[in-house]
Order: sequence, then structure tokens, then C-alpha cells
Amino acid sequence: MTREVTLLRGDGIGPEIVGATVDVVAALGIGIAWDEQLAGMAGVDRANDPLPVATLESIRRTRLALKGPLTTPVGGGFRSVNVALRQEFDLYANVRPVRTVVPGGRYERIDLVLIRENTEGLYVGLDHSFRVAGDRRALAQAMSVITREGCERVCRFAFDYARAHGRRKVTVVHKANILKATSGLFLDTARLVAREYADAVASDDKIVDNCAMQLVLDPWQFDVIVTTNLFGDILSDEAAGLVGGLGLAPGGNIGTHAAIFEAVHGSAPDIAGRGVANPAALMLAAGMLLDHMGERDAAERLQRAITAVIAEDNVRTRDLGGSASTGEFARAVARRV
Ligand code: NAI
Ligand code: MG
Repeated sequence: MTREVTLLRGDGIGPEIVGATVDVVAALGIGIAWDEQLAGMAGVDRANDPLPVATLESIRRTRLALKGPLTTPVGGGFRSVNVALRQEFDLYANVRPVRTVVPGGRYERIDLVLIRENTEGLYVGLDHSFRVAGDRRALAQAMSVITREGCERVCRFAFDYARAHGRRKVTVVHKANILKATSGLFLDTARLVAREYADAVASDDKIVDNCAMQLVLDPWQFDVIVTTNLFGDILSDEAAGLVGGLGLAPGGNIGTHAAIFEAVHGSAPDIAGRGVANPAALMLAAGMLLDHMGERDAAERLQRAITAVIAEDNVRTRDLGGSASTGEFARAVARRV
């Protein structure tokens, strides 16, 4: 059976790494009909819109997208397409698996998943400056918004994810000792959800500052982490650092009606068009897409092939200390799958 998936090639290195990823998915023999649409600079150039209506309609229909990185203009220009997509489709769960791919780093055999609430907290935009006497920015105030419903859906997502992927434990990360109302609501709601899953998935909770330290001291104690927006933003980068940074980090933005998968890194304008970009993070994101579609076996084959090409065949792009081009890496992965 063929499933339709929206494809956004993105800006900068986007078209190169998306092309490589599409080739590798084709080699897996999975029936995907890519519906190619425009976004970002490509959208501005060809449709005069960074997020054309046709693109939104496509994602609404297919409910699935694979997205190359998009360049966000600094200062003026259009607002972030990434943020617009997240809001349009209410993509409330940001999923970041963190796995050791390249051996010989600071930590070996890391395998954890960080799930970040993506729509609430301090990121709702209630961030204001106030004038006192002549000083326009004498005082500033930010408001965090946490809802029971928002906590419940992301926690339920985390426990469902853990159960479906044979994970043993979910750690709820919070600051409820200080932020008793907002973080307290998250923790209390998480504990109620945890009870429903108690026979399948264990759970515990950690205060965020301790969690940050524990991630460095003993990352192997973690399995799935679920947390609110700001803490998740910080901890997901920290976790990516355990396995050597963003170069091999995929991510998924998942809602009830749509899911969009991408690499965590940006459009790398400094190396765009030279055929040297590392497509591995986007390939791993395609693996998450396949997993989300229920193609668990293909997802695992792809994951294993990428790891084997890097760790055993020693085919690596420049950012990983090798000399392979984007295309050579893609052909090596295609041979393995
Ligand atoms: P970046 O991730 O694009 O690049 C940072 C550094 O990492 C650069 O030296 C780049 O060459 C290198 N790099 C990144 N991905 C690579 C890959 N696959 N292979 C080899 N080297 C790679 O971050 P930067 O420079 O801060 O942002 C560039 C643009 O990307 C900006 O317009 C930013 O807004 C956008 N961006 C988009 C994201 C998205 O669409 N999800 C996420 C992050 C940034
Ligand atoms: Mg961040």
C-alpha cells in the first residue's frame, strides 16, 4: 500500500540532504508517494509566500511531512515557518531520540528519548517590557501558561510512546518545588497519567536542575524523559551534546492530526550546494517518520544501516571527520538497507 507524505526540500543544504534521504527510503522498498511542496525561501522565490496555502492543504491531507531545514531571516522578513507549522497543526509533542551513533565519544551506548511539550509554558509569547520613569525597559515580565489538558496530552503521548517502543521508564522533569502552580500542575497531572500505565511502564520524577546534572553524571539511568517547553528546549540540546552534537540528531513534531519530521540542525548556508552536507540526521528523521507510519521494521533497518555505515564501513562526511560526499554516504546506506 502506498502512503502519501508531504515533502519540503527546504533551504540551503535542504535539497541535497532531502534528495539523499528520498533515495535511501526508495531503497528500503516502502511505498511512499512524496507530495512535493514549497516552504521557506523556496516558497518566497517561487510562490511569493514562505508557507503557501497549497503546502498547508497538502499536510492537512497527508497528515505527514518530511521537512528539510528552512532559513529564517534574522531581524526583519517573515516569521519562522517552523513556528507557524507547529501552531497551525498544534504539534504539541517534540520528540528527540538521542542515541550513540559514532563510537569513541565521551559516552558510549546512550539511548534515550526526550519528549518536550511544544505549545505552552514560557513560549506562549506573554513576554513584555515596562517603562519606569524614563527607562523603557526598566522592568520585564514573562508569563508561563500551563493547562491541565496540555499536560495530560503530552504525558499520555510519552507513556504511549514508551509502551509502544518497549521502553521501561518515563522520567517526569519539573520545578514544582519553586513553581508550585505551573510546574506543580504538570507534575500532578503526569503522576495521574503514570498510574494508568503503571503495569506497563515505570515512572519517576526529577527536579530539572538535578536532571541536568544527572544527564552528565549518569545518562544511562534515563529512558524516556517528558517535560515542559523551556526545560525541554534546554535539556534536549544538553542530551544531544552527550552523543556529539546536532549533526546526528533527528526530531519529530507530533500532534493529533499531523506529524512533521526533520533534522534538528539548520540550513547550513556556509556549505550549501557543495555536496558535502551530512544527510544522516534527516535520514534518522525519515526513520522516525516510518516508525510513526507503523513501518517499524523498515525504520529499524534504516537506523541500523546508518549506524553500520558510520561505525563499521567508516563512510563519513566531513563533519564526522571523513571525506565522503552527501551522495557517497547515501549510496553506502542504500547498499546496507
Ligand atoms: P546550522 O545548523 O544550519 O549550522 C551550524 C553549523 O553546523 C554550520 O557550520 C553548518 O555548516 C554545520 N552543519 C549543520 N548541519 C550540517 C550537516 N547536515 N552536515 C554538515 N554540517 C552541518 O545553524 P545556523 O547556522 O545557526 O542556522 C542557519 C539557518 O538555519 C538559519 O536561518 C536558521 O534560522 C535555520 N535553522 C532552521 C532550522 C529548521 O528548519 N528546523 C533549525 C535551526 C536553524
Ligand atoms: Mg532549542
